[in-house]
Order: sequence, then C-alpha cells, then structure tokens
Amino acid sequence: MKNFFQRLRSFSLNLGLVEQAQIVASTAVIVMMVTIISANIILQKEFEFLDFVSVTTAGIIGFASVYFSLKYGRQLEEQRRELEALNTVAMVVSKSINLNYIFSNALHKVADILNTEFGWLYVLQGDRLELKKTFGADFGFFSEKMLSSKTFLEWTEEIRTNKETNLTEGIVFHNNLQLLDIASWVSVPLRVADKSEGILLLASTAKDFFPARKVNLISAFSNQISVALNNAHLFDKITESEKRYADLFEHSPDMYHLVNAEGIVINCNLTESQILHYAKSEIIGKSLTFLYPPEMHDHITMILNKSFKERQEFRGSEEQMMTQDGRTIDVSVNTSLVYDENNIPVLLRCVGRDMTEQKILEQKVMQARMQAQKIDSIGNLAGGVAHDFNNILTSIMGASSIMRRRIPPSNRNYQFVEIIETAATRGKSLTNQLLTFARRSPVEFHPVNLHDIIEETLRMFEPSVKPFIEVEKVLSPHVAIINGDEGQIQQALLNLFINARDAMPNGGVLTIETNVDPVSDKTVSIKITDDGIGMSKEVKDQVFIPFFSTKEQGKGTGLGLSVVYGVIKSHDGTIAYVSEPDKGTSFTLVFPLIQGVPKDIFFSSKRRITGGSETVLIVDDEEFIRQTLSTMLSDIGYSVTTAAGGNEAITLLSKKKKFHLVLLDMNMPQVGGKKVFQKIKSLKLKSKVIISSGYNDAILEGSKFSKEIDGFIQKPYKMEELAKKVREVLDTEKS
Ligand SMILES: Nc1ncnc2c1ncn2[C@@H]1O[C@H](COP(=O)(O)OP(=O)(O)OP(=O)(O)O)[C@@H](O)[C@H]1O
Ligand SMILES: [Mg+2]
Repeated sequence: MKNFFQRLRSFSLNLGLVEQAQIVASTAVIVMMVTIISANIILQKEFEFLDFVSVTTAGIIGFASVYFSLKYGRQLEEQRRELEALNTVAMVVSKSINLNYIFSNALHKVADILNTEFGWLYVLQGDRLELKKTFGADFGFFSEKMLSSKTFLEWTEEIRTNKETNLTEGIVFHNNLQLLDIASWVSVPLRVADKSEGILLLASTAKDFFPARKVNLISAFSNQISVALNNAHLFDKITESEKRYADLFEHSPDMYHLVNAEGIVINCNLTESQILHYAKSEIIGKSLTFLYPPEMHDHITMILNKSFKERQEFRGSEEQMMTQDGRTIDVSVNTSLVYDENNIPVLLRCVGRDMTEQKILEQKVMQARMQAQKIDSIGNLAGGVAHDFNNILTSIMGASSIMRRRIPPSNRNYQFVEIIETAATRGKSLTNQLLTFARRSPVEFHPVNLHDIIEETLRMFEPSVKPFIEVEKVLSPHVAIINGDEGQIQQALLNLFINARDAMPNGGVLTIETNVDPVSDKTVSIKITDDGIGMSKEVKDQVFIPFFSTKEQGKGTGLGLSVVYGVIKSHDGTIAYVSEPDKGTSFTLVFPLIQGVPKDIFFSSKRRITGGSETVLIVDDEEFIRQTLSTMLSDIGYSVTTAAGGNEAITLLSKKKKFHLVLLDMNMPQVGGKKVFQKIKSLKLKSKVIISSGYNDAILEGSKFSKEIDGFIQKPYKMEELAKKVREVLDTEKS
C-alpha cells in the first residue's frame, strides 16, 4: 500500500501543470457523478432514466473535456518545449560569429534537442558541399564524389527525407552508412538570401522518427543556423576588408601619420615605424617634431601653424626626418586636413615618401654627367695639345731622318740621332692615343661584324696569356653589325683585355660576353669581366683620365682606358663598369646596331685577304721594305717590280713601262716621292698611286698633293691592311 502511494506521489510529481489540472478536473467530474448516484441511493429515490442520462452526459462531457484538455494541453506543452529548443539553438548560434563554433555547437544542440542519434552539417564552399561537422558518426553521409555534382547540389536545395525513395535515385551515400542501421533521416537546406548554402542532416535508427511536425521544427533550426551562417559570412567579409585596408595603410610604401591640432602624432603606419626604426608605440603620442632633426623643428612648427590656422595643405614639401639611430633621411611630404562637423580642422594627415635612394641616384647621375663632362673637357685639352705636339714630333722625325742620312754611322753623333728618332716615335704613338681619346684621329666607319672583331682580337691576345688566364666566350647567337672602325674597336678591346690580364697576375678567368638587346634589337653589348684585383673607389673615379695609372713606372702609360673611352664615344656607344677590390672588374660596352643590313653578308665572312693580278711598282729606298712588300704582294698574285729610289722609278716610268699601281715611299734621299708623283703626272700615266710613309697621313694634311694621290698607307704595314688598301685603290674608278 505504501508502495502504491509512493508510486502515486512520484507519478504526480512527474505530471506537468496541465496534467495536474486535468486530474483535478476529472476528480471533480467523478466526485460529481458519485455524489449524484449516492444522493439518489441515500434519498432512496428510484434511479430514473433522466438521472441516468444526466449522470452519463456529465460523465461523457467531463471525460471528453478531460480527454481534449489533456490532448491539447500536451500539444501546447510540446510547442512550448519546441519554442524553448528553438530559442536555445538561436542562442547557441548567435553567441559567436566564429563559424567553427557555430557549426559544432548548433549541430550538437539540435541533435540533442531532437534526441536523434546522428547529424551532419554540410556547407557550400564554391561549387562543392563540404562536410563541416558530424554528430554520432565520424564520416560523411554522402559519398565524397557526389559533393560537387550539379544534380546533387540541386537535390539538396529542397527538404528531403528517406520516404521519398524515388527522389534519392542517383544519390550515392557513404559506404559506411549502412553500419549505422539508419531507419529514417531528413535533410534540410540552409538558406541564405534564398540561396542554398548547405544542409543540416539528421538521422535515427528508429522508424518514422521524423514526422512532418519534426521536419518543420528542423527547418526552423536550419533557418537559425542559416542566419548565423550569413552573419558569420558578413562578418568575415568585413573583417577581410578591414584587414585589407589595414594592410594597405600599414604596409604602404609611403609613411603615414596623423597629427592633431596640438601637434601630437595620434597614429602612424608600420612603414613609418620601420623606416624610422621606432616601434609604433614610440611614435604615437609624441610631438611631431620628435620625428625631425632639431634644425627642422622651426619648419615643422610653421607647417603645423599654417595647416591648422590658415588651413593650408602641402604638396611635395621637402623635409628631412630623423631615424632612431640619428640618421637623416630625405622625404617629400604631402598633407591634407580632416575637419570636424563644425568645419574646424582637427587632424592633419601626413604622407611622407622616402626620397633618400632617389636623391642618391640623382646624385650619381649628376656625378656621372659631371665625370663625363670632365673627361670630355680633358679630351678637348689633350686633343689640342696632342695635335700640336704631333706636328712638332713630325718635324723632329723629319729632321732626324734627314740627319740620319747626312751623318755617316761612323760619326760619334749618329747614336744621338737614333735616340731622337726612338723618342720621337714613342712620342708619336702617345699622341696618336691621345688623339683617339679626343676623337680626333681619322676613323673609317663602315658596317662591321662585332663578333668577327672580338674573335680576331682574341686570336691575337689569347696565346700570350695561356695557360695562366682562361678565356671564356659567351657570344650571342645573333649577328651584331655596327657602324664602326675595325682597327679602333680592336684597339679598345685589346686595351680592356690587357687591363684584365694585368689585374690577374696570378691567373684567373676572363669572360667575354655579348648580348643583343632582346627587346629593341637596337643595341649590342659586350661585357668583359675579370676576377682580378678590382679597383678602389679612388681608382674607379679616375680610370678614364689620360695618364692615370696605378701601374709602376714604365709598365703603363695610363692611356689604355682613355683610348677605349674615345673609341666608344666616337662610335656613339656607352661604357659602364663595376669593380670591387679583390673581386674583379667588369666593363660593359654598348654599341648601336645598324638596322637593315643583310646579315648573311657578315655571317661567315672572315676578313679574307684578297689579291689581284695587276702590275705594281714598289718605290722605296730601304732594301728590307722593298723585299717585304714585294714578297707580300707577289704572294697574293700581283706582278711586282721594285725601284730603290726616286731616280730609278722615274727611269722605269719614262721607259713607257706601264704599271697599274705605284706604291711610293715619301721620304727618299735625292729624289723623294713627291717628285716621282709629279713625273707620273707629267707623263700622263694612268697608274694609280699609293703614298706610304712612316708618319701618319697628317703630314699630307691640307696639301694639294693629298687630294691627287689615290691612297695613303702608314708603315709598318700589316699584310691584311696592305692587301686591302691595294685592292681598294685598284678597284676605284679614277675621277
Ligand atoms: N680590369 C681592371 N682591373 C683592375 N684595375 C683596372 C682594370 N682596368 C683598369 N684598371 C685600373 O685603371 C688604371 C688605368 O687603366 P688604363 O688602361 O687607362 O691604364 P694602364 O693600364 O695603367 O696603362 P696602359 O693601358 O696605358 O698601359 C689602371 O692603372 C688600373 O689601376
Ligand atoms: Mg691599360
């Protein structure tokens, strides 16, 4: 009995308010019926039909009311619970904007409330559904390969349950799903702005676990999750854009700071803190003048005054800021004002651009320009002197050669003549170099193949440095034709090679590299690199100055690079170099290419020596020269006659001997070249005449004679030069 009451008590405690009310109401009905029946019995009144009907009606109404009250009361109670659950989910999802938090807590809570055993949350990521969270299972609901299929994505846009078997056709579930013994499931889309952004999927081992009302509730849950999802997305976007702006501000190439009307920096960007070597916190809160050296303080105060009092904004104000370690940097500052609602300027935005590098660059350009001007003016000076000096030397040489002929070798003064001649010849070679540097030496410009010249120069140079110096050639496969003078370019290259050799006394690698500008195809560069001793800054600044040399007396004249400079300039080229002590030096020459020259002409053309079969008369008083010339020319096919002096030549010519060409030495004793030439003219001979001399053609300068002759060649001859000249003169029509 006691047990019964206990159970009754626990039953009554378990009842809800509505149930308890129903029991009270039912008890009242029963008590009323019992009262009616007992009153009839006590009053010994016959139990009439009407009584029976009224008691039955009261009973039926009472019980019907109990039944319906109980039924709707329970439903109301359930709805209240559902609302509470919805509220719980809403609270969970709105508690955070962190998507991960929302996913895991929302799914957990929904499964919990609905008492389902399994749950999945998928979210659309681009064109694919991604599994974000599971509950009760550690694998997906669908097969992985389904997740990006278009038909599947469309399928997920509606509420789906296991009942619509025909609609699951074509949907592939995860292999492991059968292990879970799922008997019912429901998939509800998560909609954001009418677009399905994912699904909430719940499953149970119980059959028909998701009646329509539950599905509706799940839909309501999914709406809550969708709202949270949307919020999180929006928040993500804002955060992202904020981050981007912050990044733009912090890492802008320019320095930013914001200054208030009291001149205090209230914000600055990371670039500023990095350039000035301060932490941001060390800048913010300080007076603006803190960022400037003392001598700039007045200027800064003036800028602040003008900004806030006169509302002036500044563009490109040139200032110097000071870094933490006391260095000053050049900056160009732009400012703009920020106004409050009463149109009063309250803040000054300052954007500072670090101009230090640019200034250094400008200075370098300026220095290079000044250096070029300096070298050019030295060139002018040197050229003028060299020209006069050349004339003087020519006279000295002329006079000394006369002396040599007049004084017998036995005379004790003869040796001095030789000394004079040697010294004058050396002087001549120096003045020639100076003239090249000053761009005053005669040049013969015509299209030349740069690669051929390099190869040829290397052929002369390489054997002399082997095996100490390794020569590496990296020549461009393009044909590089420039308008130039082979001799001069060769001379320039040779000077550079020799400098490189001298810079590598213990051997090393000399690299010659050529490149045709791939973009414009308008220039070719030659880079000559050595890994030798390199140059100090002092040396670097002076290399092109004539007679500057670090080599010991007698080893270098200091004219090598001056000549290179002159040659490059007269070829409209440029020269640049980099050098580091103990690392090496690299010179880069750039020449303009000639456009539109048929390249195949030069492709394989080695400058061949071309001969001929014409008759040539060689007139020279020096036996040795006669012999050499005669051998050279007859070797290449000419039929050669020699004359040992002017007289002999005139005799031969007067004998009506015909020569296609006369190679005439200028300076001969008794009858000189000029006289022989006059004879040729007076005899009206058709012979062409090439004058040869130990002096350069400057000795002919200006004279009428120089215009009448057909060519000039300077001693000593090189085989190629001679052959070329002879052929040229013979092939030219006489005007
Ligand atoms: N490749 C190089 N490596 C190191 N120093 C160099 C190099 N080229 C030139 N120099 C320096 O530049 C100076 C001037 O060079 P330049 O060719 O004008 O004269 P030089 O070589 O001294 O004499 P010269 O060429 O007339 O015989 C050299 O004395 C040397 O100090
Ligand atoms: Mg040199």
